[in-house]
Amino acid sequence: MTSKPFHDLSKAYRMELAHAYTTDLKVWDLPVRIMHWILAIAIGVCWWTGANHQLEYHFYSGYVILWTVLMRLYWGLVGSSTARFSNFVRGPKAIVNYASALHRRDTPPSHGHNALGAIAIIIMLGLVLTVVILGLFSVDVDGFYSGALSSYVTFEQGRHLAHLHQKWLDVLLWVIALHIAAVFFYFIYKQQNLVGPMLSGKRPGDGGEAEMKIAPLSRFAIGGVIAAALVWAVSNGFYF
Ligand code: HEM
Repeated sequence: MTSKPFHDLSKAYRMELAHAYTTDLKVWDLPVRIMHWILAIAIGVCWWTGANHQLEYHFYSGYVILWTVLMRLYWGLVGSSTARFSNFVRGPKAIVNYASALHRRDTPPSHGHNALGAIAIIIMLGLVLTVVILGLFSVDVDGFYSGALSSYVTFEQGRHLAHLHQKWLDVLLWVIALHIAAVFFYFIYKQQNLVGPMLSGKRPGDGGEAEMKIAPLSRFAIGGVIAAALVWAVSNGFYF
């Protein structure tokens, strides 16, 4: 073995090393991958329909986002090992250590989220939930398309919350842009493809890493039904 950075090695040696990394290592389970891409698509739809006054579809995509974020929070507590907050949210020391080695190209890929990515994920999930909740309480100028919970606030409060809904959406979009830029940074600078594993669930491993623990899909289905019932209740303003 050599201690040279990966990109300084000869092409032949890099290929030899790449062949040594032949085992498929499972890093993301199906629920995490499905929730990620639902979230990415639904946020795109919600943003487009909001900007183009297609408010009926804006509401539907908002409910999809609410269900997905609730499910991601639930899966962060009871899901597979790499999905659990207790496994990827790390303390300040681990974050500083990780950040100080960010410029190095020879660091091995993380098993699940890295210490910095974990912060971005918590911020993104928190912002998405904030924007959805603000939207639910928002009051439209003419009252035709107000949020499902807007009857619990006054007209002035609802208008103020509608402004905050817009403002926090802008913040969320910047964080998402940063998230996508980080994925490109890993691909171009560190030569680590993070998108492939978010699609297939696997990345190449050297055979020595511990396998992730996969939670049963039935647990996801039970949570999914409860979350759907909650979103349905919210969409009716809790009036039955
Ligand atoms: C609205 C847009 C998006 C949102 C809200 C979003 C949000 C998230 C969240 C919350 C995670 C954590 C996954 C989890 O543990 O559940 C994540 C991870 C990830 N996202 Fe996105 N994402 C968005 C768009 C994208 C796009 C367009 C790409 C591809 C270019 C992408 C690539 C990834 C990758 C590769 C990971 C895994 C990172 C890692 O290996 O730690 N995301 N994203």
